[in-house]
Amino acid sequence: MAESLLFDENASREKRYHELASQLKALFTGERDEVANAANMAAVIATAFRFHWVGFYFVKGEELVLGPFQGPVACTRIARGKGVCGTAWESAVTVVVPDVDKFPGHIACSALSKSEIVIPFKNAFGDIVGVLDVDSSELIDFTVVDQRHLEAWVRLYEEACYA
Ligand code: SME
Repeated sequence: MAESLLFDENASREKRYHELASQLKALFTGERDEVANAANMAAVIATAFRFHWVGFYFVKGEELVLGPFQGPVACTRIARGKGVCGTAWESAVTVVVPDVDKFPGHIACSALSKSEIVIPFKNAFGDIVGVLDVDSSELIDFTVVDQRHLEAWVRLYEEACYA
């Protein structure tokens, strides 16, 4: 298994997504544990893009519970339908928030988070079992490029852990 990630820190975000996709796949190879794979995936995204916060929440009953993450300490539990994460879980689609102050009910774990993207993921039965949450300290930081690639990476994560 690779011990370090190989990518050009000065390359465009799109190029970094391309350079790191095969390394993410390699990290998942032979590992099905959802916590272990979430931990490495959060590390890959944080290392590649230096986002303010990158992490996973897992569905437990009627709440999302904090999983592996990179960044400052965060809220441990989020109710279904609450905040950006709970909204992505309830609606079962990616939620991109260009300005968190304009999202009604946004849960401010950190005052430095300005924009975010939350992508739900499913088990083999099609049930949502968690969300990937990526927060930026820049306003309007997530484009369709980020959405497309992060969704593709979440599909890799689902295949590795739940297929
Ligand atoms: N911003 C999220 C809460 C989680 S933290 O930002 C880590 C939300 O409103 O769902």
